[in-house]
Amino acid sequence: MHTPLADELGIEFPIFAFTHCRDVVVEVCKAGGMGVFGVAAHSTDGLEAELRWIEERIGDRPYGVDLLLPTKFAGSDRGGFDGSQLDERIPETHRKFLDDLLERHGVPQLPEGSSVGEQFAVGADSQREVVEMLFEHPIGLIASALGPPPPWMIETGREKGVKVAALAGTVEHAVRHVEAGADIVVAQGYEAGGHTGTISTMVLVPEVVDAVGDRAAVLAAGGIGNGRQLTAGLALGAQGVWCGSVWLTTEEAETHPVVKEKFLEAGLGDTVRSRSLTGKPARQLRSAWTDAWEDESNPDPLPMPLQPRLTREYQARINRTAHNNAGSKQLANYFVGQVVGSMNHVKSVRSVMEEFAVEYADTMERLDGFMAE
Ligand SMILES: Cc1cc2nc3c(=O)[nH]c(=O)nc-3n(C[C@H](O)[C@H](O)[C@H](O)COP(=O)(O)O)c2cc1C
Repeated sequence: MHTPLADELGIEFPIFAFTHCRDVVVEVCKAGGMGVFGVAAHSTDGLEAELRWIEERIGDRPYGVDLLLPTKFAGSDRGGFDGSQLDERIPETHRKFLDDLLERHGVPQLPEGSSVGEQFAVGADSQREVVEMLFEHPIGLIASALGPPPPWMIETGREKGVKVAALAGTVEHAVRHVEAGADIVVAQGYEAGGHTGTISTMVLVPEVVDAVGDRAAVLAAGGIGNGRQLTAGLALGAQGVWCGSVWLTTEEAETHPVVKEKFLEAGLGDTVRSRSLTGKPARQLRSAWTDAWEDESNPDPLPMPLQPRLTREYQARINRTAHNNAGSKQLANYFVGQVVGSMNHVKSVRSVMEEFAVEYADTMERLDGFMAE
């Protein structure tokens, strides 16, 4: 498979795999695609070690990194809030609602002295140090979600020969990213897992290609989990596909085992776009957690980053006990796209990649057969 972008990046298949799991990055790269490591859920201390771990295993194959760099969040107009200022902004009604919800589901408290992990800073400037560290590594691509890449990221990318990508859920986002200097636009449709807009991939991708395709490479994202969908993405004008959900049920993925099981059982209609985990609309598995937040008699989710700050301890309690407490299992969920309905078996990353390639070849042959002599 050749697309100009794949050739430029030196990858065999224009398949970009967004993942928080380093093993998935390695396996995708080794199978000829490009693993893109989502660094938002990693501590900065551990991050360098993770990158080195990946680099030791993929040789000189390229890999990418992805950061959440939201432009709009609570306090963004004044450079963000510190931890205690954030805590002051969380209403007691919200804590009470979650205390009651978890109590009704019999979710035990965390053991004394347990920590719920690091709270990550939001906003491009607060992450500048992390981005500078990332550029010291042999990355081939750096992506920013939830806003255009800041000018210093574009400049450093140019200096170091690293492609800068940005996710877009509308044509306007795509134009803004390209005007900011992005080399790659990931046109991500409504069906995608994680933060997502309201326009479907089928409709969004050709519009984005028409608007910016002469200035940037466009990747199709959202609802792509097999070779027919990959072929469709290329047919819409994209130079490759960017997938996130399909890796979550692979052997290598570190998805919570209970959530992995729920993903394997879920149908096409079992996801919901909800602000309940991050404060911004993100597609995730429907569960007793999302149902409770959807109920109009309950409080509305808070804006980012208040909502993740509010929910992290409750989420830690749910995840810690989902394997042996029925109520926690009912509440447990995670980000995933509509394609979860097609993820019915645990497979290795390599076999997912092979299936993509084989089905792409079969589909092209089938389409070729439709051509009149
Ligand atoms: C579990 C999960 C977490 C995600 N987190 C991020 C993220 O931190 N940054 C980002 O740019 N995209 C994130 N996304 C979106 C993916 O980059 C990708 O665009 C999306 O998964 C594509 O749609 P699909 O889920 O149908 O494959 C996430 C997606 C999932 C499923």
